[in-house]
Amino acid sequence: MCGIVGVLGNHEAAPILVEALKRLEYRGYDSAGIATVEDGVLDRRRAVGKLVNLSDLLVHEPLAGKSGIGHTRWATHGAPTVTNAHPHQAGRVAVVHNGIIENFRDLRAELTGLGIQFVTETDTETVALLTEHYMADGMTPVEAANKALDRLEGAFALAFLFSGEDDLIFAARKGSPLAIGHGDGEMFVGSDAIALSPLTDRISYLEEGDRAIVTRTSLEIRDINEVLANRPIKTVRLDDTRIDKAGHKHFMAKEIAEQPTVIGQAIGNYIDHEGNITLPDPGLDFATLDRLTLVACGTAYYACLTAKYWFEQIARIPVDVDVASEFRYREPPIPARTTALFVSQSGETADTLAALRYCEGKADRIVCVVNVPESSIARESDLVLPIHAGVEVGVASTKAFTCQLVVLFLLALKAARDRGEMDGDALADHLSALRSMPSVLSTALEANAQMQKASLKLAEARDVLFLGRGLMYPLALEGALKLKEISYIHAEAYASGELKHGPIALIDKAVPVVVMAPRDNLFDKTVSNMQEVMARKGRVILISDRAGIEAAGEGAFATIELPSVPDALTPLLYAIPAQLLAYHTAVAKGTDVDQPRNLAKSVTVE
Ligand code: F6R
Repeated sequence: MCGIVGVLGNHEAAPILVEALKRLEYRGYDSAGIATVEDGVLDRRRAVGKLVNLSDLLVHEPLAGKSGIGHTRWATHGAPTVTNAHPHQAGRVAVVHNGIIENFRDLRAELTGLGIQFVTETDTETVALLTEHYMADGMTPVEAANKALDRLEGAFALAFLFSGEDDLIFAARKGSPLAIGHGDGEMFVGSDAIALSPLTDRISYLEEGDRAIVTRTSLEIRDINEVLANRPIKTVRLDDTRIDKAGHKHFMAKEIAEQPTVIGQAIGNYIDHEGNITLPDPGLDFATLDRLTLVACGTAYYACLTAKYWFEQIARIPVDVDVASEFRYREPPIPARTTALFVSQSGETADTLAALRYCEGKADRIVCVVNVPESSIARESDLVLPIHAGVEVGVASTKAFTCQLVVLFLLALKAARDRGEMDGDALADHLSALRSMPSVLSTALEANAQMQKASLKLAEARDVLFLGRGLMYPLALEGALKLKEISYIHAEAYASGELKHGPIALIDKAVPVVVMAPRDNLFDKTVSNMQEVMARKGRVILISDRAGIEAAGEGAFATIELPSVPDALTPLLYAIPAQLLAYHTAVAKGTDVDQPRNLAKSVTVE
């Protein structure tokens, strides 16, 4: 995790660095810091907590200089304190780092043995001290940084700044992304193009193992074999939605409200005028595959779990679904004619990327469903399917989830057609129902007041259960995850049928139970489970359509009424209460909705 930025500019660097860090805060917000070089002198400022604390510090203790590096941290080694905040400085070297140096304990022992003192608990300080150590041996800054890098194991992106060098940033990528921005007589370094977007739209992406010597007028990149490399400059245009809440109190509220629009965009990008599902090049023919392997983390994993039901029921394809952190180390066999599909909002999640690399050379095709088409996962896939959700700022994923569902549902329909499991009329019916989902979601958002009221019950609770069957099981999981991450209330989800196999022991009047039960073919079974909860004084919040509430709403503590949609599309709709119940509960509890504690938007460490 963590966000990195660097500037070799013609204006004061500190405000530029802080602005860029704001755009990287989604990568971590435990602490932040910047370092600059002014007249050859290296100096730094660091503060714990949100970026605003660093901005305040800079008002009282400004930092001059037109060259600098900055960092926003998500702590891995060492608590979020000022001492552990980046940049880490050792003598003439300052370093910012994203990732983990796995062999830092060995290096630390080696340097300590030489009488070198450490002042932090971080892995990053090792890099600064090692580089300074080599400079003390007479090496130039670049030689010393290169030699230090040769000693490092793990996954990292690093940027170095040196005293006496106000026209030099040295940068390296191994396992964590890093982009170079080209300005007019200015150069920039950033964890992603978003950080650099107000500064330049001309971006070169470093590749695995690349090291770059950056000055205001030059860029020299050497690849993993130390050979000079030419990384193309791409024009990357990013909008400014990141900093605009559009009148909402939180980005999360804005992003929930945007869903009718963005799922409309996602649908429109995959259906042509003749009503055919069209994929970007090189396309995908499901007729020739035997198995689909879906891999992701967190909310994206729940999108995959939902898609498993679709692919199996609609297209009759055998599907494996896995969380990336388990998949990558289990060494699963990948049978011939398998397509491996990776789902990730950020496209940078370390475990998902590692799982993708595990499948390279084993699966027939590597496909990804991402929100960031410039991301590492996209760049390493054979086929990239963007979800067109727009920038998602709230740490809790909302609109990316529903847009992922849209793309996965369309893939399931295409698979059914390719495999002769669905005729043209049935496809047209499905697509017509899908096209109406933006307006259905708008109607669902109008039930906001019911969800806000029900959330008052959740806000009092210590534990909450979510129940669902079939397509509602992954949605129950998603509802529980959302509630946990932003309201800090313990929540668990169970497949309704599992209730009797253990979790029912938890039920009493203090445990609200959210039941997701559209009036589908499994409705009666879910309602039986709901009755079992109510018989044990559990407080049920029933989410269903009018027919469902009429049939089973009596005795429920609260009901939330949603429109009625074809069974296959219920996941898209029930995402709205899953999100809004968590949102209102978090607001009622007064937590930091957009940046909940301990989390980061992009998880680039395993
Ligand atoms: C939950 C959430 C996380 C992410 C997960 C994967 O609200 O946002 O669970 O879904 O970290 O992230 P991506 O999709 O960027 O790979």
